[in-house]
Amino acid sequence: MVDIRWGVLGAARIARKAVVPAIRRSGAGEVVAVSSASGRAAEFAADLGIERHYASHEELLADPDVDAVYVPLPNTEHARWSIAAARAGKHVLCEKPIVQGLAELDAVEAAAADAGVQLAEAFMYRHHPQLARLRELLDSGAIGRLVTVESSFHFVQGRQEPLDIRLRRDLGGGALNDIGCYPVDLLGWLTGSEPDDVGVVAHRDVPDGANTRVAIAARYGELTANLHCSLDAAFRADARLHGSEGTIHLPDAFRADVRGGTARIVVERGEERTVVEVDGDQYGAQVAHFAERVRTGTPDPDDAALTRRTAATLERITKAASL
Ligand SMILES: NC(=O)c1ccc[n+]([C@@H]2O[C@H](COP(=O)([O-])OP(=O)(O)OC[C@H]3O[C@@H](n4cnc5c(N)ncnc54)[C@H](OP(=O)(O)O)[C@@H]3O)[C@@H](O)[C@H]2O)c1
Repeated sequence: MVDIRWGVLGAARIARKAVVPAIRRSGAGEVVAVSSASGRAAEFAADLGIERHYASHEELLADPDVDAVYVPLPNTEHARWSIAAARAGKHVLCEKPIVQGLAELDAVEAAAADAGVQLAEAFMYRHHPQLARLRELLDSGAIGRLVTVESSFHFVQGRQEPLDIRLRRDLGGGALNDIGCYPVDLLGWLTGSEPDDVGVVAHRDVPDGANTRVAIAARYGELTANLHCSLDAAFRADARLHGSEGTIHLPDAFRADVRGGTARIVVERGEERTVVEVDGDQYGAQVAHFAERVRTGTPDPDDAALTRRTAATLERITKAASL
């Protein structure tokens, strides 16, 4: 079978730093083209050794030698370009959050279904094997009945001009969309449901800008959760699961890649404390998973359902706090 030929829409930092290298090391195909609306495609292509470069995303989508695209554009551009790519017959791996609300998700999914292409949201942490290990621990009763979860994603985003897309409300930035989506997604994965109740408070410190801190209290059936994201607190990307008999701490819940891929799972029961280390390549596994969907023509219904739960929950949080 012909290998998947990828195009990248946007000369994005995340493409340069993580996803193009992941495609190359994981056997997910080859990167053949990049486009940039701001004139940076040629430089990006030269730096990364990519054969073709285009001055517009439309031109890349018209290239018959591109089978699949990776979309790492600002959040407000995700739905529009995912739909355009699907209509051009390209499979779509789009950065998180893939949409701003369920109306956009319906439109993106319809475009992919009509075109018969695969569609996936680039939530790389979903593909780290620590999640499978976590599920085994929970199912084996390692901490008894799960009662409450705390999960946070923080880092310090510079405020210098020009403002980073993360601080631009008009581009769908904000702590919630950029990093708060991870704790929300994790709870959707853990519970298999959307929250029954949600309370939200938010802070914004950039005039006319996006939210910079969001605190969420949520209830999923009998499980309660405190989720937090901040663009002005020191790096942290973790989760603590408190059960009736103990606690599981995932200090590397979302960014195990910063520790070379090794995630720690700390299980505490009374005085007993055990640390399990799980190796993984979450960016590599993400693109390999997507490439498998493309090669076999089979979608991943669990992944799609989680994307829908997260989109619904993010929309609800956004409305609740007028973010
Ligand atoms: N999964 C992860 O680990 C991860 C990590 C970081 C970011 N992300 C996601 O990836 C996406 C890109 O993030 P990034 O940090 O890589 O962004 P970035 O490099 O700052 O920008 C990405 C692209 O967006 C376009 N862009 C930038 N500023 C723009 C503006 N003012 N107006 C219109 N378009 C603009 C540019 O495309 P052109 O080249 O076409 O001009 C740029 O190449 C976001 O959705 C983010 O949430 C994911």
